[in-house]
Amino acid sequence: MKQKKTDGKEQALPKSLWRFYVKYAAKPMMWFLIAWMFLFISWDIANSTWWPMSQQKIVALFENGVTGDGFFTHALWTIGIIIWLFLVFDVMNTVHEQMAAHWKPLARKNISETLTNYVHNQSITFYNNRIPGKINSQINYIITGFETLFDFTAIISTLGVILLNMGLVLSINKYVAMVLLGSFIFRVVYSVLMMKPVTKASKTASESSSTLSGHIVDSISGFSIVKLFNGARHEEQYLDPLRVKNMKDQIKSSFLQRIMWIIPMFLWDLLFGAVLVLMLVLYMRGNIKVSEIVFTLSVYQVVQGNIGYIARTIPRLTDTIGSALHSYQELNQPIDIKDAPDAEPLVVSRGKIEFKNVSFRYKKKYVLRDLNLTIKAGERVGLVGTSGAGKTTLVNLLMRFYDPTHGQILVDGQDIKTVTQNSLRNAISFIPQDPTMFNRTLRENIAYGKPDATDAEIHSAARKAAADGFINAAEKKYESMVGDRGIKLSGGQRQRVAIARAFLKNAPILILDEATSALDSETEVAIQNSFEKLAKGHTTIAIAHRLSTLRNMDRIIVLDKGQIIESGTHQSLLRKKGLYANLWKMQSGGFLQEQE
Ligand SMILES: Nc1ncnc2c1ncn2[C@@H]1O[C@H](COP(=O)(O)OP(=O)(O)OP(=O)(O)O)[C@@H](O)[C@H]1O
Ligand SMILES: [Mg+2]
Repeated sequence: MKQKKTDGKEQALPKSLWRFYVKYAAKPMMWFLIAWMFLFISWDIANSTWWPMSQQKIVALFENGVTGDGFFTHALWTIGIIIWLFLVFDVMNTVHEQMAAHWKPLARKNISETLTNYVHNQSITFYNNRIPGKINSQINYIITGFETLFDFTAIISTLGVILLNMGLVLSINKYVAMVLLGSFIFRVVYSVLMMKPVTKASKTASESSSTLSGHIVDSISGFSIVKLFNGARHEEQYLDPLRVKNMKDQIKSSFLQRIMWIIPMFLWDLLFGAVLVLMLVLYMRGNIKVSEIVFTLSVYQVVQGNIGYIARTIPRLTDTIGSALHSYQELNQPIDIKDAPDAEPLVVSRGKIEFKNVSFRYKKKYVLRDLNLTIKAGERVGLVGTSGAGKTTLVNLLMRFYDPTHGQILVDGQDIKTVTQNSLRNAISFIPQDPTMFNRTLRENIAYGKPDATDAEIHSAARKAAADGFINAAEKKYESMVGDRGIKLSGGQRQRVAIARAFLKNAPILILDEATSALDSETEVAIQNSFEKLAKGHTTIAIAHRLSTLRNMDRIIVLDKGQIIESGTHQSLLRKKGLYANLWKMQSGGFLQEQE
C-alpha cells in the first residue's frame, strides 16, 4: 500500500467529499481495497448460500433412509465436503477481516493527515471563528464516513445473497419466492422514502454533537477562569441548553431510524406465518419434501437476516455519511490567505520594511487607516500607543496573518503578497504578546523554529533569554514537560522560552510584542542586553507599554486610533510635548488606559 505524502503546502481540497475520499483515502491503496471488496463479497455470498444448501443436503441424507452398503461412505463424503467448505469460508473471513484491519487505520491516518494539514494552512480568520474542539470532532466524522462507506460492500453482497437464495427457492416453490421478492421490494422502497427525513435529523444531531463537544473542550481548557470565578455552575448552565438540544436531536434521529425498520419487521413476522401455512398445504398435498421445507425455512431465515441488515444499514449509512458531508463542508472553506501562484521566496538582503497607505479592518470598523511607515534596514523602532490602538494588528499584517484591506506592505522592495508565506515568516522572529506553548518538552518548545538545532545552540539561546537558570533548576531540565499551553511555567518563564525561540531562529527581522512585559526589572535588563546584541544589524520593531524599555530605540512611533500621530527619538518626542510626552509623564511603570 502506498502512503500519501503531505508536502506542507496549502492545496485546495476537492469540492465534493466523494472526490476527497477517492483522492486521499482510496487512491493510495486502490488495489488493496478492490481485492478486499472482492474477497468480502465472495465470502459473504458463498457462506450465506452454503448454509441452507448444506442443511438441505443433510436432511435429504436421512430423508431417503439407509440405502445399502455405500450409504455410510456417501454420508461421510457429504459431511466432509460441507465441513471443508465451511473451513474455507472461515479462512476467507479471517483474511478479509485482517485486510480491513489494515486499510481502515491507513485510511484514518491519510484522512486525518490531509485534513489537519489543510486546517493548519488556514488563515487566522478561520480560527477566529471556530472552536478547535469542534474541528477535531468534524475530522473524526469524516474518517468514520469513509469507513462506513464500505458498508456498501456489505450491501452489495447482501443483495447478492438475497437474489441467489430467492433464485434457489424459485426452483422449489414459486409462491414462496414471490412472497420473498414482494417483501424485499417493499422494504427497499420504504427505506428510500424514509431516507430524507432520517438524513436531515442525523445532520442536525451531528452538528449539535460537534458544537457541544467544541464548547465542552473550550470550557475545560478555560479551567483557570472557572476556578477563579467559581464558574462551575455557570459553565453547567452555559452548556446545559447545548446538552439538552443535543439530547433531543439524538433522540429524534434514533427514533426516525427505529421507525424505519420496525414496521417492516412486523410485516415480516406476519409473512413468516403465511409461508408456514403455505408449506403445510403443499406438504399435505405431497408437493414438497421435508428437506425442501428445511431448505425453504433456512433460506427464509437467511434472506430475513440480510434484508434486516440492509434496512438497518441504510439509515446508519445515511446518518454517518450525512455527518461526514456536513463536517466536510464546514472544514473545506477556501483558504483566504494564499501564496500567489507565481510566488517566489522572499529575499531579505537588508530588511527594509515599508507600509504604503495601509488600511485594515477585521469587520466593519477600521483598525488601521491609511498608514505610511518606512523602517530602514537595521533600524530599531519602538511602537507605542494605547491599548487597542492597533499595534499588534500592524505586526500581524507584516507577518501576513491578515491581508490589508487597502495598501501594500513591502520587505526589501518585495510586496509580501507576492512572496511565499513560508519565506516571509522564516525572515521574521516574533515574540508574541501572550506566548503559547505546546504540551511538549522545554527543548521542543525552544527548538520549534529550528528543529535541527544542536544542544549547544539551544543552551546558548536559553542563556541569552535568561531562561537557563530556571530550566536547569527543573527536575528534568530541558526534557521537562511544560503542561497544557505552558501552564507549568510562570508568565515570565513562558515569555523567556518564547524569547529563546526567537534567539534560536535568529531571523533578519525581529518583532517584539510586549516581549518583556512579564519580567522583573533585573531579568529584563539582562535580556535587554542580549536583545541589543541580537538586534544589531536586524530590523527591529518593539512594542511596549512600559516606555522605559524603548528609550534606546532609534525611533519611536506613536500609534493612535489606527494612525501614526508622532514619530521621533525618545528625547525629541519628549520635547514635542505630545501624546508620548504625556504618556511618559503619567507612567511610573504602570500601563496605559484602554482606548475607547
Ligand atoms: N481577531 C480580531 N477580530 C476582530 N477584531 C480584532 C481582532 N483582533 C483585534 N481586534 C480589534 O482591533 C483593535 C486593535 O487591536 P490590537 O490587538 O491591534 O491592539 P493593540 O494596540 O495591540 O492593543 P494592546 O496594547 O492591548 O495589545 C482592537 O479594537 C481589537 O478589539
Ligand atoms: Mg497588542
